[in-house]
Amino acid sequence: TTVEPCDFVVFGGTGDLAVRKLLPALYLRDRDGQLPAETRVIGASRAGLDTDGYRDKVRGELARFVSGDQLDSDTCERFLNRLEYVTVDVADPADWAGLQDCLVDREGAIRVFYLACAPGLFGPICENLALNGLADAQSRVVLEKPIGHDLASARAVNDAVGAVFEESQIFRIDHYLGKESVQNLLVTRFANTFLEPLWNSSSIDHVQINVAESLGVGSRGGYYESAGALRDMLQNHLLQMLCLVAMEPPTYVDRETVRDEKLKVLQALKPMSPQDVERCTVAGQYGPGLADGKAVPGYQDDVENPDSTTETFIAVKAEIQNWRWAGVPFYLRTGKRMDRRCSEIVVQFKPVPHPMFPGSEGHSEPNRLVIQLQPHEGMRLHMTAKEPGPGGIRLKPVSLDLNYIETFKRPSPDAYERLLMDVVRGNPTLFMRRDEVEAAWEWVEQILVGWQKSERAPRRYPAGTNGPTDATTLIERDGRAWHEGVTA
Ligand code: BG6
Repeated sequence: TTVEPCDFVVFGGTGDLAVRKLLPALYLRDRDGQLPAETRVIGASRAGLDTDGYRDKVRGELARFVSGDQLDSDTCERFLNRLEYVTVDVADPADWAGLQDCLVDREGAIRVFYLACAPGLFGPICENLALNGLADAQSRVVLEKPIGHDLASARAVNDAVGAVFEESQIFRIDHYLGKESVQNLLVTRFANTFLEPLWNSSSIDHVQINVAESLGVGSRGGYYESAGALRDMLQNHLLQMLCLVAMEPPTYVDRETVRDEKLKVLQALKPMSPQDVERCTVAGQYGPGLADGKAVPGYQDDVENPDSTTETFIAVKAEIQNWRWAGVPFYLRTGKRMDRRCSEIVVQFKPVPHPMFPGSEGHSEPNRLVIQLQPHEGMRLHMTAKEPGPGGIRLKPVSLDLNYIETFKRPSPDAYERLLMDVVRGNPTLFMRRDEVEAAWEWVEQILVGWQKSERAPRRYPAGTNGPTDATTLIERDGRAWHEGVTA
């Protein structure tokens, strides 16, 4: 079904995110027939192109970032014809007048302003949208993460955007919430009966949320230097996943109830004193090493800053102080230039209370539910079975597998495709509400403060490994081990 006609204005329209993710996602929605004829996409940036130049650029980028079997020339031309380009230097009033010219006289089109630019520009852009009469009650604004770089700056951004737009018009995107396997987490928990009675500290030993990337920081060094893994990944993607694993069942799944429940989880995170930060977090930075068998430089070379202490890896042991989860650690880990690209949520159950098979061969392992986001979406329930045979009992770890491609026979859409259409539909369920973002910062800031106090540089790990040894110690100290997951 098509969505309503809309003018999609992308600030940062020539940037990395726009060309790699946003424009390909809109193209694919167009290809599926979801964009009505009147929908336009307006690139706004300081690159100083004109509309023809922008269309040429995007033609080239689509060829790079959309897979060949999804690229057909008819859709491509139709999509490129939707594109316009406006030069916008936020500080230049004449540029705003240009954007105004482009957007007026478009009765009935919903305006979506996608701010794919530095958070420092969010406030000034919104202010100018208001000054130029571009922000009406129908408009929506999409904010890319990170919102700010700490609690105070996040509040300032939220205040500035909130001065122009109502909360219901503000869409704070976390693309992990648009991933099929992440959304399926809610369905798995709440559309089945067998898990929920076990989903608590009586049966669950611990939870791991692992997001390992094999890529380095690439061309985003400028941004990354001021962010680091804690702000780039943990404050948003990992904590959002933690919320979906840990939240209470909402009465039904709709825009506010799910976000209300996620907020309660964030508020229940155990505070981190500087001593806790010392004991329960490990920061790392990749040094030179290997990627795909080839020698690659370390992070400091990648960003051309030999003194950089920005972390490209973080491991944290978190706890949730509520009735359901008291005493169940949540181990979170993410890093760049690790030995594989693999993202998983692992729910490990307690071992059986009593070994029932004396004299049996083989061994039994505790049950584990593994929700895999990348490289392949799937879900695996690890169990113990009897290996068939005429002899005595031989125990064998086995798994029940759900493989998305095999089961659903089609690739999942990219997270941005779903989320961009939700913005047009005005459905904020899968977006972060102001209070969630600020609650996440409140907790993350305690880690930042602890690190500042200890003045400890991140631990080095060679590119192509699974992080610093301290991270292994962090979990092994508790008698547990990281689940390393599959390789692509
Ligand atoms: C982004 C981060 O939000 O998520 C990147 O800024 C990271 O640093 C990316 O690489 C990972 O997303 P995905 O979907 O490839 O796991």
